[in-house]
Amino acid sequence: MKVDGVARRSIQLADDGRSVEIVDQTRLPHRFVTRELRSLADAAEAISSMRVRGAPLIGATAAYGVALQMREEPSDASLQRAIEALFATRPTAVNLRWALDEMRAALHGLPPAAREERAYARAAEICDEDVENCRAIGEHGLRLIEALRERQTEPNPLNVLTHCNAGWLATVDWGTALAPVYLACDRGIPIHVWVDETRPRNQGASLTAWELGQHGVPHTVIADNAGGHLMQRGQVDLCITGSDRTTSTGDVCNKIGTYLKALAARDNGVPFYVALPASSIDWALSDGIAEIPIEERDGSELSRVRGLAADGEEVEVAVLPASSPVANPAFDVTPARLVTGLITERGVCEASSTGLAGLYPECAGRASKS
Ligand code: MRU
Repeated sequence: MKVDGVARRSIQLADDGRSVEIVDQTRLPHRFVTRELRSLADAAEAISSMRVRGAPLIGATAAYGVALQMREEPSDASLQRAIEALFATRPTAVNLRWALDEMRAALHGLPPAAREERAYARAAEICDEDVENCRAIGEHGLRLIEALRERQTEPNPLNVLTHCNAGWLATVDWGTALAPVYLACDRGIPIHVWVDETRPRNQGASLTAWELGQHGVPHTVIADNAGGHLMQRGQVDLCITGSDRTTSTGDVCNKIGTYLKALAARDNGVPFYVALPASSIDWALSDGIAEIPIEERDGSELSRVRGLAADGEEVEVAVLPASSPVANPAFDVTPARLVTGLITERGVCEASSTGLAGLYPECAGRASKS
């Protein structure tokens, strides 16, 4: 991904080779600000405050959080403390647990003196693997886009609707849902993205719109409630979203509002695909609605809105009566039956146990045993 023409990742080592540089996503789209994480506490704060967010990036940041702690104190107790502190930051994206399990497996049998080096190496591998997986998701999704394009009778661009931000900023590079869009754009396929604003935190309006703009992808931001209307009018050819946790049966948990888009897509015959790497699959779960923990975030995300005032200053204003109670569930579950297919790094499959087992036979065993 390029920012103002310069290639970079959403997370990377700083110049000292030990601190970790992130893009502070709470400042976008109005300010592009990077920030250095120098300790476990910095990494945990960055995840819980959503300076970094998006399932794969949460996992990558947690991996570096462990490395930062191993630099400080490589004992068994310190490793355990780091894993527990990072695990507590956000409950829904399973990539967090996956990355911490990977770090524990890489480090626990090693003598403390060897842990810092190995922790940085494993965190870097997790990041590189994420980039490669997202690129592969892009290639598989591109084939779907090309197939839809061939069937188009009108010369219009292909209209893709996406929810939240499942792009470069949510991963280490490329994104999941947006990777096919970037590839299509790079290969000259006329494409246009409807960007759900994604209340309450506006990840669509603030982050997806910004990164599509950086890449030069034509897009239009819409209110979250507009998608169904556009689908009824034939103005959406394809929906693609990301996932924070997908069960072994293909139920998909993603940003609140995804389920409503899937319902509207089904009612209007619009294909609804979900793009995800294997690190977002929770093989132990089979019923997403009953089993996936849904993060309840602070009500201030709903009652207050942040933006840029006419004088260029960033301001936050209240939008609700001060006395009205608010509820803020951050994710919802789209049942597998509403998902046309899952786009993974190994290919596209049906959202079902059979579909996922076909692509990941070595993991499907774990699902049936649990
Ligand atoms: O609360 P967020 O912003 O971390 O939620 C992010 C999403 O819901 C994304 O769609 C999901 O993590 C997939 S990211 C490739």
